[in-house]
Amino acid sequence: MLPTHVTLVEVGPRDGLQNEAQPVATADKARLVGLLQDAGLTQIEVTSFVSPKWVPQMADSTAVMAAVMGSIERRPGVRYSVLTPNLKGLEAALADPATRPDEVVVFGAASEAFSQRNINCSVAESIERFAPVVQAAHVAGLRVRAALSCALGCPYEGEVSPDAVERVVRLFKDLGVDHLGVADTIGVGTPRRVQAAMERALKHFPLGEVSGHFHDTYGQALANVYACLEMGVHVFDASVAGLGGCPYAKGATGNVATEDVVYLLQGLGIETGINLDRLVDAGAFISQVLGRPPVSRVARAVLAK
Ligand code: HMG
Ligand code: MG
Repeated sequence: MLPTHVTLVEVGPRDGLQNEAQPVATADKARLVGLLQDAGLTQIEVTSFVSPKWVPQMADSTAVMAAVMGSIERRPGVRYSVLTPNLKGLEAALADPATRPDEVVVFGAASEAFSQRNINCSVAESIERFAPVVQAAHVAGLRVRAALSCALGCPYEGEVSPDAVERVVRLFKDLGVDHLGVADTIGVGTPRRVQAAMERALKHFPLGEVSGHFHDTYGQALANVYACLEMGVHVFDASVAGLGGCPYAKGATGNVATEDVVYLLQGLGIETGINLDRLVDAGAFISQVLGRPPVSRVARAVLAK
């Protein structure tokens, strides 16, 4: 039986925008977050506290958090998260009590090569780096989510096995993170392989604390969401307008579009609490800022009416 309710974690402001070469104004990023919460999103990944030399588009993370909490206003019931790969990132995220997030994300990989390219250290070193981040975040009362990149394939090492996934799932479990996201960074997964990777995550984390993060490079993302629904998984990351890509995964496209997932779930009679028309408006706003149409098929169809 499929779940009756699904929670979508909107990653457009972070995963969606991080790879944009053109500058996006801080105010536009904050406005996007505002429109997304108006559409009913209750979990929003706002920005990344990472090195501005590595990911220039996220250099204004402190200002974005201030703008979101100031001009748009922190909305009760909405969980705001940010990426923090190390203590420096966490300290910056927590520097101002008025703008602190509710949740932080540490991100590791199932492949050694991607770990090196993305965060400049081995998988084992990354876990060592995350340990004080997880501890300090918990002391500060924040939730900690882990993203496990390259769970289906790696741009440098090729196919990734369920055993490789489970090895790092265990490391994250031992670290004490609250949630584990299985990420198909380069969008190569297909439903049965995704289920095999998910099974390994579900051996160590409860059903409500495992999510799917699918990029749509090979057009498989919606099928992979459905495959996870069949297993009862009911939390998914998605990116409005299908924005995105990872700077360290060349050629990888954006995440599955939030509009497309909402349309699928509505068709299945699954509650999301999201208003599709308002979501399309949010996608239209950021697409207009970027000067190109949304990638979301549903958004294009709705906007063409
Ligand atoms: P490093 O060079 O090994 O770090 O980078 P370092 O500690 O040696 O520091 C080097 C410089 O970076 C220093 O500055 C530090 O101050 C600075 P300098 O002295 O040269 O002027 N620095 C920082 N600045 C701001 N915030 C920080 C920070 N840390 C160090 N937190 C590091 C290591 C992790 C920082 C770097 O590799 C990095 O920032 N990588 C960014 C990776 C990234 O954001 N990737 C995209 C997000 S992950 C993703 O998209 C996948 C996901 O969507 C799931 C999926 O699809 O797979 C989540
Ligand atoms: Mg991603």
